[in-house]
Amino acid sequence: MRDLIHERTGAYYEDDRRDIFADKLLPRLGERGLDSFLDYYYLLKYDAAAEEEWGHVMDALAVPETFFWREFDQVRTLVEVLLPQYLARKPTEPLRIWSAACSTGEEALTIAIALNEAGWFYRLPVEIYATDASPVAIAKARQGLYRERSFRNLSPELRDKYFHKKDGYQWLVVPDIHSRIKWGTANLYCEAEVKSLARSPVIFCRNVFIYFSDRAIRKTVRLFYQAMPSTGYLFVGVSESLLRLTTEFELQEIGGAFVYVKR
Ligand SMILES: C[S@@+](CC[C@H](N)C(=O)[O-])C[C@H]1O[C@@H](n2cnc3c(N)ncnc32)[C@H](O)[C@@H]1O
Repeated sequence: MRDLIHERTGAYYEDDRRDIFADKLLPRLGERGLDSFLDYYYLLKYDAAAEEEWGHVMDALAVPETFFWREFDQVRTLVEVLLPQYLARKPTEPLRIWSAACSTGEEALTIAIALNEAGWFYRLPVEIYATDASPVAIAKARQGLYRERSFRNLSPELRDKYFHKKDGYQWLVVPDIHSRIKWGTANLYCEAEVKSLARSPVIFCRNVFIYFSDRAIRKTVRLFYQAMPSTGYLFVGVSESLLRLTTEFELQEIGGAFVYVKR
């Protein structure tokens, strides 16, 4: 079961995380009326209902930890350094930015808010795509409703400017910003789902490779490399390093943040 999930999603559970893995999937056996992991394995591998079930697997395994203005230095580099360079090189060409494991959407909305604050939507046609393998996470991102936890790093001024309080404890993002983003599900470990999205000069793929095996990271980074245009910037989480895993991207410090630049 561990290997099947690795082949399908890139996520790898070491032996010492066996219990966590089992606990996350156990409710799915109940939902399907199955008695054993072996039966569940057969369902995922051979059953006609497997495709639908894989969505539930992604939901069950997802670690939806994310918040606005997380690791913001990289977004600042995008806004203050990379976008002016892009505008100088390609003044009329739309710029595509992809948030590749966006969870419930905070990362993509952070990018959209930062671009709006700097006036970029009036200077350059920008397309923001945001995807995640978890259908539940994307359904929440489409709703655009957030609780206090998501705002731990965002100033109250920006929160009040871009969100309206709802139901006393939730905040709804303003439509102007929410509608800037095209939301969808995509599994990073599926070439067919990644190929066209990765034709983006800027990819944020943060805090997801920590769950991948080295082999899966290599394969995903290579897919990015093959699809990205020749000046391509890949942002990964601050605790993630690709140095051992790729020679196709060069780590550079730009504007005070680390970014992998396509060679
Ligand atoms: C910890 S969140 C990171 C969210 C955001 N990028 C950030 O840094 O705040 C990790 C996300 O990766 C997603 N994920 C895990 N495996 C994936 C895969 N194979 N393809 C796409 N998304 C995946 C999970 O569903 C989860 O929402």
